[in-house]
Amino acid sequence: KHCFAKSPDGFLYCEKLKVQDIMENVEKRPFYLYTKPQITRNFEAYRDALEGLRSIIGYAIKANNNLKILEHLRQLGCGAVLVSGNELRLALHAGFDPARCIFNGNGKLLEDLVLAAQEGVFVNVDSEFDLENIVAAARIAGKKVNVLLRINPDVDPQVHPYVATGNKNSKFGIRNEKLQWFLDAVKAHPNELKLVGAHCHLGSTITKVDIFRDAAVLMVNYIDQIRAQGFEVDYLNIGGGLGIDYYHTGAVLPSPRDLIDTVRELVLSRNLNLIIEPGRSLIANTCCLVNRVTGVKTNGTKNFIVIDGSMAELIRPSLYGAYQHIELVSRAPTNAEVSIFDVVGPVCESADFLGKDRELPTPAEGAGLVVHDAGAYCMSMASTYNLKMRPPEYWVEEDGSVAKIRHGETFEDHIRFFDGL
Ligand code: LLP
Repeated sequence: KHCFAKSPDGFLYCEKLKVQDIMENVEKRPFYLYTKPQITRNFEAYRDALEGLRSIIGYAIKANNNLKILEHLRQLGCGAVLVSGNELRLALHAGFDPARCIFNGNGKLLEDLVLAAQEGVFVNVDSEFDLENIVAAARIAGKKVNVLLRINPDVDPQVHPYVATGNKNSKFGIRNEKLQWFLDAVKAHPNELKLVGAHCHLGSTITKVDIFRDAAVLMVNYIDQIRAQGFEVDYLNIGGGLGIDYYHTGAVLPSPRDLIDTVRELVLSRNLNLIIEPGRSLIANTCCLVNRVTGVKTNGTKNFIVIDGSMAELIRPSLYGAYQHIELVSRAPTNAEVSIFDVVGPVCESADFLGKDRELPTPAEGAGLVVHDAGAYCMSMASTYNLKMRPPEYWVEEDGSVAKIRHGETFEDHIRFFDGL
């Protein structure tokens, strides 16, 4: 089921290659290792699930902004969801069709909205001031902007509070009681704004599709109300948020098909074009962070495996207490004692852990250790704290070759920021 899997001989494979062999052939530092075929398979799962519907798959670039990955997804037919001016520039640079791009966010800047207007991407309206800025951008660009209203439907996504976005006290979107104000404001700007749809995004790591259905029912209702006032809205954007099997327990989680099937009839009943904005479920499981064991130590009642990777490369465990599965890439030495370890990095913070209380065989120094499901919100959230420079990225291609898809940052890169000052 997982594209990184242990063979009976105890070695971890990425597609048909031993991760151990890959480690021996690349730079000796933590690195991200992706499988390109799995990115394709994840995209195809969405594409196949959407058959029979008019739709746009907008990949949420924030999850992973590697240019090679973006170009690959674009070639497969993906659109893009952007939350900053630079994400918009990157999507354009990667060749995404602006008519399949959605510019989102609660603090979009005027200059970035001008670019969005010039390029003709969809823009989500998030607030009163955001609407005013979009109107101003349309005037500066001399172009009418296709807008969706981001409605905050107040549906509980049942996830970590940091990744819940669609509840009524959230900073995102507009509340339904203000809907009429926004409709009147759009009507007042017929030369600047064309209202084409409604958007919602509930949160991330959602593992129950009923939650999407509840939101879609509310959203279709809003669309009925909007249409009743003479707007020809065509798009329903139900956001992203589908979770993945981080725990590797074999539990059956909803698939893209389950997600789409739960809203299909509603979408068809109103003849809508469905936009979805997956990030994690397209990219998370296609990648591992590959690390080396620096040493093993014990303090008090705690055993630690210290690796060369850290919260700088991968912050989700430190930031959200997120669980990401951890494994050694090869068979443990015979007689290796199995213990309960915290897997930690070298960063000067007690928050610097990749996993807590993991049952693992005591590894040898230099052994490879991977953190799974590292394709989404890992490299894109990496920092250079403690001058741990951002790691290189590689992928395994369809023909089984390994290619570098991003250089690792170096000490020299850091020094360069001071050139000429
Ligand atoms: N659309 C909007 C408007 C979003 O805000 C997001 C994610 C997505 C789509 C994509 O959601 P996904 O399919 O990836 O769940 N850093 C956190 C996740 C933050 C998600 C923010 N918004 C993490 O590491 O879990």
